[in-house]
Amino acid sequence: KESIYGLKQRPNGDIWVPQRARPRRNRKNEGLRSMVRENRVEPANFIYPLFVHTKDSNEKIDSMPGCERHTEESCLREVGEAIAEGVSNVILFPKIPEGLKSNSADECYNPEGFIPSLISKIKGKYGGSVNVWTDVALDPYSDQGHDGMVSTDKRGDGGKGRILNDETVEQLCRQALAQARAGADVVAPSDMMDGRIGAIRDALDSEGFTDVSIVAYTAKYASAFYGPFRDALDSAPRESSNAPPNKKTYQMDPANSREALVEAALDSAEGADMLMVKPGMPYLDIIKLLKDNTNLPISAYHVSGEYAMLKAAAERGWVNERDVALETLLCFKRAGADAILTYYAKQAARWLNE
Ligand code: PBG
Repeated sequence: KESIYGLKQRPNGDIWVPQRARPRRNRKNEGLRSMVRENRVEPANFIYPLFVHTKDSNEKIDSMPGCERHTEESCLREVGEAIAEGVSNVILFPKIPEGLKSNSADECYNPEGFIPSLISKIKGKYGGSVNVWTDVALDPYSDQGHDGMVSTDKRGDGGKGRILNDETVEQLCRQALAQARAGADVVAPSDMMDGRIGAIRDALDSEGFTDVSIVAYTAKYASAFYGPFRDALDSAPRESSNAPPNKKTYQMDPANSREALVEAALDSAEGADMLMVKPGMPYLDIIKLLKDNTNLPISAYHVSGEYAMLKAAAERGWVNERDVALETLLCFKRAGADAILTYYAKQAARWLNE
């Protein structure tokens, strides 16, 4: 039979598209595919976020199926399970009772507060087999739902209060020190105030905490993908108050990438040990940009809204959850992330260890 498209044919009639290079040869079996594979994702790459609260039973989070607000005891169990799967980095996010919230968020540095006591319990139980990371930001403790203190004047964006940068940095230093004193291994400022990395580094160093690492949320965007996280902690900006309804005066504009380089240069110069990009999936270009322009490790934050999207589609049977989740995590590595902060951490580690 002659080729209907006029393709070449061998004397025996087989269709032949003459070409020397055939990239498919390197994909012909798993032995070759795995040999030439450029990136791999491993449990060791993951940072496992845990929501914690002071109530005496766990609570489900509707918009984040599979995640819960953990009691202290349940949190300790989760950390143990994560370690057993090869995940040795966890980060804590507390839901703080309304009565302890204020504009200045002073509860964030209470040495007897929930987070310091939880840190010391985790370190007491698991010691060096886990790194406890903490969130450095005021929002869980703010009655305004902001990562910084809000001024009482109305000279800010849209005629609302301003987010006070330098006063907030002072609080963040106190918070980071309280966490370090309790035994935190890594503090991760997620607030996006200017100058906080250097100030926190100096504050830690002045008390001898030169070994406590700082992971800077370097390129943290004012993203709509944080919705489920704010549900989990009841930490959304509060519209009724003097507070601006969004975080756009401190978190970055999703339209921008060059600003990420400005932030990266500052955080590196101020002593950050690792740079975080947040959110993750829609911001792979930013991960790559920072990877190509700095020599510090890069971490991607696969945020709550991204997690919720995968969960929702998987629940409907529209995607295979395991496959899309592992592909997503691998793609962070390919884009240049060394570490990945993901709500899938424990589950993904289990899948990888199967
Ligand atoms: C706030 C903080 C947020 C997240 C982590 N730290 C929310 C925000 O900036 O409003 C979101 C993470 C997620 O969506 O998973 N300091």
